[in-house]
Amino acid sequence: MTERLISSCRRQGRPLSDCHNSLIAYELDSTSAELGRNAVLNVLSSMNVSCDVAESLVGSWIRTGDYLFEAFQLAPANFVIGNPPYVRLEDIPVEVAGAYRNSYPTMTGRADLYIAFYEAGLSQLREGGVCAFICADRWMLNQYGAKLRSMVTASFAVETIVEMHQANAFDDDVSAYPAITIIRKADQRDALVASAKPTAEAHGGRLLAGMVNAMRSGQGTSSAIPDLNCALVHTWFQDADPWPCSSPARLALLRRLEDDFEPLESPSNAVKVGIGVATGLDDLFITKDQSLVESDRLLPLAMARDTLSGHMKWSGHYLVDPWLADGLADLDAYPRLGKYFEQHAELVKRRNTAQKNPNGWYRTIDRVNHSLTTRPKLYIPDIKNQFNPVLDRGETYPHHNLYYVYSDLWDLEVLGGILLSAVGQLFIEAYGVRMRGGYLRFQAQYLRRIRVPAPGSISAANKEELVQAFRERDRKHATDIALRLYGISRRELETTLGN
Ligand SMILES: C[S@@+](CC[C@H](N)C(=O)[O-])C[C@H]1O[C@@H](n2cnc3c(N)ncnc32)[C@H](O)[C@@H]1O
Repeated sequence: MTERLISSCRRQGRPLSDCHNSLIAYELDSTSAELGRNAVLNVLSSMNVSCDVAESLVGSWIRTGDYLFEAFQLAPANFVIGNPPYVRLEDIPVEVAGAYRNSYPTMTGRADLYIAFYEAGLSQLREGGVCAFICADRWMLNQYGAKLRSMVTASFAVETIVEMHQANAFDDDVSAYPAITIIRKADQRDALVASAKPTAEAHGGRLLAGMVNAMRSGQGTSSAIPDLNCALVHTWFQDADPWPCSSPARLALLRRLEDDFEPLESPSNAVKVGIGVATGLDDLFITKDQSLVESDRLLPLAMARDTLSGHMKWSGHYLVDPWLADGLADLDAYPRLGKYFEQHAELVKRRNTAQKNPNGWYRTIDRVNHSLTTRPKLYIPDIKNQFNPVLDRGETYPHHNLYYVYSDLWDLEVLGGILLSAVGQLFIEAYGVRMRGGYLRFQAQYLRRIRVPAPGSISAANKEELVQAFRERDRKHATDIALRLYGISRRELETTLGN
């Protein structure tokens, strides 16, 4: 930046003093700030700028101070560039953390300090201005990044994201998962998403940046860029939706499918996605004893393990069900149920939900919706590496580790076949968060966003094959049909899964 400014002044025949306000840099730590000043002084000296002019420029450019406290007073900027600190708010003095939170509403939950830097940097941009950070990229997917994502999708354009988990981004070993993000104050157009291989560094930033820019402007192709997996994505996410950027090819395919097909839980699909009942005390609320309480207070309960074989095999568990259609059952009307809860009242009342509802202390956390029991539905266990949708013919009620999907429009076995396919898996791999040990979480919020072809658009022959693949748990067969329905080539799917 220094080199460009000085060259520009000289080219235009302007005095260097004109650029006193052209750069502003902040560093909280005085030693680091001094390192920065010396680095810039060296550049100025190598460009034959006199000592006193150089000192005066550097003095006004590089400030020792807190950017987050002062960003509001700074002039709008064309470029904001940074390597913001990754610091958990818990590690910052309480008063300072509180002040940051007050000033930066995107800092929610367990937000890291870098979230505030993004908000400050973006807020400082002029129309058309651009903010480029190298920073941890967890905010693109996680809960604490939601408000920042909303801010970006509402008023900015994601231009380029280069994920650098594998690349050697820093001299020091830092255990952050960094990405370069380039975000412009402009309307969203194509976004270039790239992932750097460990060997990318060898090509140098200038070469890579040039090629990335060429590809953005339609003059290059992704295969021409060495050691970066790249994809141009034609539309970006909306609101606070997560940005699954780790595999560019997958992201590009995902965006295409999101644009071309309706989400599972949309009016046109008449699909409802939900989660089973949480009790707060399974040891007491779940039983196999058929004589424990009145028989109509025992609700056949489907457990996640009942679905393991791919077919629903009810293990004989029941929910001790305190709910009637219009609210909690009166314990006087159900003496055995009453006696059972009274016997265990101490434990039952210790639950959070009981303390919040002293009169309904024997409630389960979630209310039971009895009409769900008799509805045919698909069960999807929460934690499994592969999509494992299983049909319940309307015989059980789901426990909390099961999601359910029902529809008045879809043949559930056809839908089950689609979800079973590699295309169904693709969505969950992209949206879902992998937990420690590599398990994928299937959460309702992700299930709802899976895109499916309109049920009316699937031919009878394809429907029949999907049903067959679903019944036989034949993922390969289901995938063959799904690829046809979604218009995905096998090669496209393989590149995507390969990533
Ligand atoms: C990840 S380091 C980047 C260091 C250096 N700029 C670089 O790119 O190598 C983050 C820097 O931010 C500084 N910092 C932390 N909080 C700050 C704040 N509120 N205002 C300005 N600088 C801050 C830290 O002292 C640290 O040097």
